[in-house]
Amino acid sequence: MNIYRYDVAIVGAGLAGLSAAIEIKKAGLKTCVISKLHPLRSHSGAAQGGINAALNEADTRSHEFDTIKGGDYLGDQDAIKTLCQKAPATIRRLEKMGAVFSRAEDGSIAQRAFGGQSKPRACYAKDRTGLTCLQTIYEQADRLGVEFVEEWFAGDLLYDPLSRAAYGVSAMKLATGEIAIFNAKATLFATGGYARCYAINSNAHANTGDGLSLCLRKGLALEDMEFVQFHPTGLAGSGILISEAARGEGGRLYNGLNERFMEKYAPQKLELAPRDVVSRAIEREIALGRGAGENKDAIWLDLTHLGGDLIASKLPELSDLARSFLGIDMAVDRVPIRATAHYSMGGIPVDNDCRVRASAAFIASGLYAAGECACASVHGANRLGANSLLEAAVFGQIAGETIVKDMRDLEPIKADAADAQGFADETRKLLNSRGDESVAFLREELQQSMSANAGVFRDRVSLEKQTEIIAALRDRFLRVSLRDKSRVFNTELQEALEFGHMLDYSALIVAGALKREESRGAHYRADFPNRNDAAFLRHTFGYLDAEGKTRLEYADVTIGEYQPEAREY
Ligand code: FUM
Repeated sequence: MNIYRYDVAIVGAGLAGLSAAIEIKKAGLKTCVISKLHPLRSHSGAAQGGINAALNEADTRSHEFDTIKGGDYLGDQDAIKTLCQKAPATIRRLEKMGAVFSRAEDGSIAQRAFGGQSKPRACYAKDRTGLTCLQTIYEQADRLGVEFVEEWFAGDLLYDPLSRAAYGVSAMKLATGEIAIFNAKATLFATGGYARCYAINSNAHANTGDGLSLCLRKGLALEDMEFVQFHPTGLAGSGILISEAARGEGGRLYNGLNERFMEKYAPQKLELAPRDVVSRAIEREIALGRGAGENKDAIWLDLTHLGGDLIASKLPELSDLARSFLGIDMAVDRVPIRATAHYSMGGIPVDNDCRVRASAAFIASGLYAAGECACASVHGANRLGANSLLEAAVFGQIAGETIVKDMRDLEPIKADAADAQGFADETRKLLNSRGDESVAFLREELQQSMSANAGVFRDRVSLEKQTEIIAALRDRFLRVSLRDKSRVFNTELQEALEFGHMLDYSALIVAGALKREESRGAHYRADFPNRNDAAFLRHTFGYLDAEGKTRLEYADVTIGEYQPEAREY
């Protein structure tokens, strides 16, 4: 058993993980970045439309207010202030590192309109903003000599519950099945999003919530898991992302009756209302029989009035996607779209310095999280478009700075081979299993049922049904059998491990949604259609036991300057 020792182990090589790695490396600490993918395949690279910053505004207050209102007042206002205040410097830092942002006529960084924002604030690189940022930051991390441990799957968090201290992870090398320990004084999870538990989603196959499940399995909490964002414009059928940039550049939505229906739902903002509002409108139109296309199960995204030149210069990636996946030319044809599971506002709870909150009351020692897997609570109940790359870059850097600051005070815990036993047993059990269930079928059932019962609209009946479905899937997962028994690039084994993670955090999404008897942001209860601040202006902290039973508690929201108001667009 190899035991590698570091000051810091970072799990996840997207924008958050790499932003942290750069700070930590610059401070001279011994760091590794563990990723089940090559870093450039991280899902940050799939973010298309932009990264927000109040670049040419007197101050950042309007960005703060838009974010608070967009999140339906559930966001912690101190964390949101940090996010927005650090945004302009973050854009300049990325630009200085080499990120080539698109320019306005006068040569300044161009900014486009995005949903729920009162000003055009999304800086962009055509419609490949995430890829541009990721490539740049990877290049800089590599230049600094950050050590990458690529294609290793982190399967267990090393955590001492008595001292509430983390000391690394055990992980499996995908090429050989070797299990090793990465023992570290500080462990950072930056494992990204996890919308793969839905059938129609915009996420990469890798987005299976591994970091979340690893925390849950140590008795740690997840926060606000019921808030799952559905992006309004996924390609119909596949859910592949068609960036909000399309609407930012002037794209319009039409139903099957050729009505520009957003006039009814958001008379001022129309297509540029926040994502929760637009997604619900799309799904409602379809449910009411006013969908477009042969089966009336889509909505038209119309860019034809923008002209081929604008599409080619500002939306080339979208144009390629529509051509490759639907065989259509966006400049001439309307694009059939539908809401797609896209982003998760909840995650591993962290304080404003990215230290993990083991529970509503306690901070864990040596454990940090940043980016989409974390819940810094900057998005509240609904994230505004282009605030996600921003969060990853801002809080990734903060996580790195905090770890550097904390390093001197962290007590090293020495790992030994026994620390890998749990993960080794998990993989061995799966490889030796002789049951009659297949991971692919179980996953399909989970995804389909999550979409049907815990999707854009949910209610008590659908959520109770989904609770039972997840419990049954958990039982059936014990009887799974893998056909591939080898340890060499065993993708079936990897998918089984990932499916176990998906089951864990899906249970928390459903439990949080069932107990939250109100509608707020992306969480819409058809049986409780109004927001209820008196009972539910609070964060959910959820736990999972070894039998799959959930337990919830609640914590206060940090309100600052802005008291909750009615949210109209
Ligand atoms: O629509 C988009 O380009 C997605 C961006 C985001 O989720 O922030």
